[in-house]
Amino acid sequence: MFAGIPLFPEQASTLAPRVDNLYFFIIAVTAFFGIVTSVVVVWFAMKYRTNDPLAIGARITGSIPLELAWSVIPFVISIVIFVWATDVFFDIYRPPDQTLEIYATGKRWMWKFQHLDGKGEINELHVPVGRAVKVTFTSEDVLHSLYFPAFRTKADAIPGRYSSVWFTATAVGEYHLFCAEYCGTNHSGMVGKVVVMEPPAYQAWLSGSGGEATLASRGERLFTDLACVTCHVDDGTGRGPSLVSKFGSQEKLTSGDVVTVNDSYVRESILNPQLKIVAGYQPLMPTFQGMVNEESVMALIEYVKAKKASGQAAQAAAPAQENR
Ligand code: CUA
Repeated sequence: MFAGIPLFPEQASTLAPRVDNLYFFIIAVTAFFGIVTSVVVVWFAMKYRTNDPLAIGARITGSIPLELAWSVIPFVISIVIFVWATDVFFDIYRPPDQTLEIYATGKRWMWKFQHLDGKGEINELHVPVGRAVKVTFTSEDVLHSLYFPAFRTKADAIPGRYSSVWFTATAVGEYHLFCAEYCGTNHSGMVGKVVVMEPPAYQAWLSGSGGEATLASRGERLFTDLACVTCHVDDGTGRGPSLVSKFGSQEKLTSGDVVTVNDSYVRESILNPQLKIVAGYQPLMPTFQGMVNEESVMALIEYVKAKKASGQAAQAAAPAQENR
């Protein structure tokens, strides 16, 4: 707050003070040199002022110590900023191992959030305080950008690929969230709020009304409805590879390349299956582009994630909250 004007959003995540401290440091450094330079310019302008129209400036041939000083000092300052910023940057872009996973889709002009247990919400996101949350999202139409000012985190929602942001909220309350990329007529209306709750209140909220199927079990239903199950047989004898315990593993492709089975690869394989065929299989799978929306793709990914160990379909029904 400055003279009653809120200059900065609240600091409500573990990242927020770190981003702000770096920002204030850079402001302080630039302000310091900006002020020193301005003062010296004004001072010299007065000190060496002359009315003599024939005055000639003194010849200055250089000064090694002075030149070293104005090269080395800024260099050291820039390196400090670089190292500090790199440290903050990596923390912003690398989520911790254990996160609460939430999916989101941006579309003109709303944000839809999808919790793994099946609960969905629009332009509102409920999260527990003190727990690392990772939001994985994409766009169904044009570029959007998901921005949580109070958490100091933001990423573009890009059609055709997944982005993610993560944060650990540090204070219970309601904070603004909005689209930070001009996306058409109602861009300014693509706003919402994130509600940070105490963990018990969050649990109560999660189990309250709705009671829809978990995301993974919704994916399981789609897996049958779309007949994926006819080729991706669990015991590996089908026309497509078995998906049991495949998530997170490395797969060899017909091209000889190796791919990690992650969100992006599963999504791509559903929408563009001919692109990266697993070695030993024929390019038989049809595309599901246009047949499944982004939310269904997310459900299918959760199902593939849940298809672990024994490979029993029943496992998909178990609440799959943690990132694996
Ligand atoms: Cu979506 Cu601006």
